[in-house]
Amino acid sequence: MHLSADHIKSLHKYELRILQSIEFLMGRFSWVPEEELVRNTRLSANEVHFRISKLMEKGMVKFSQVPYPGYCLVFNGYDTLAIAHLVKKGIISALGSCIGEGKESRVYEALGTGPVILKLHRIGQRSFQTVRKGRNYLPEKQHCPWVIASHFSAEQEYMALCTLQNHVRVPTPLIMNRNVIAMTYITGDRLSECTLDNPKEVLEEIFLQLQAAYKRGFIHGDLSEYNVMFDGEQIWIIDWPQWVSPDHENAEEILDHDLETITKFFSRRYRISSDMKDVKKLVTGC
Ligand SMILES: Nc1ncnc2c1ncn2[C@@H]1O[C@H](COP(=O)(O)OP(=O)(O)OP(=O)(O)O)[C@@H](O)[C@H]1O
Ligand SMILES: [Mg+2]
Repeated sequence: MHLSADHIKSLHKYELRILQSIEFLMGRFSWVPEEELVRNTRLSANEVHFRISKLMEKGMVKFSQVPYPGYCLVFNGYDTLAIAHLVKKGIISALGSCIGEGKESRVYEALGTGPVILKLHRIGQRSFQTVRKGRNYLPEKQHCPWVIASHFSAEQEYMALCTLQNHVRVPTPLIMNRNVIAMTYITGDRLSECTLDNPKEVLEEIFLQLQAAYKRGFIHGDLSEYNVMFDGEQIWIIDWPQWVSPDHENAEEILDHDLETITKFFSRRYRISSDMKDVKKLVTGC
């Protein structure tokens, strides 16, 4: 079920309190018993029961009978907590439609002082194994690994956007909460959808942006025609959660893959050939 602005707008303050309480109690329980929620929220048992049924209708909470009756947040509930925080902070006033749904995220338009993008990181059980690689501190057994993994993925992307701001053309990060990043809206299309008049210049500009990112310790890690946008004049590089630093053990391989993917696209679409050695030298400076 997709999260809609109506679902969030119609959220009663007690429903929000219950979501917050489930999130907190999930640190202690795999499935949060109803009586614990009553205790923690200080609402009546009837109120909690009624409000939980509303949250389940909205697809924000899940119930399980085994190993004992209890409730757990699902992505919609976690996203809602983050978005409610952004609303409270005045970063957004309205949630628009979902404009992108990838394997590991959902992207929504929203309204703040201007148009804003909300990227909801959603690392599910399957992709969690990939995220875990090389990150030893992620616990082996955690009730809800997706909460940690999704929060971590958002943190990674937010860190890249903050550091690269003013040096590389990336969206400006506005705020991050839980698994959600608010960033400026780029007007334009992905390279996969544009027909460029000056593809050679655009490709050269991409290399220069990658060079600037490399200098600051960032290799994109998932570069493709889908993660570069063009606004008619300039390019923007988006989608940074999987970046690695140049001293990562697989940095060279990852950079090669980024460069090959983007140069192959320009070769296929625009018949522009690139010498990989020269390109790599330009980007890394060695
Ligand atoms: N700042 C932005 N401004 C405008 N559109 C954006 C912005 N960020 C993301 N998008 C749109 O949302 C889509 C998905 O975003 P992104 O690439 O960051 O996520 P993703 O998890 O990789 O999703 P996918 O698997 O579809 O690539 C982009 O291809 C782009 O169309
Ligand atoms: Mg992408």
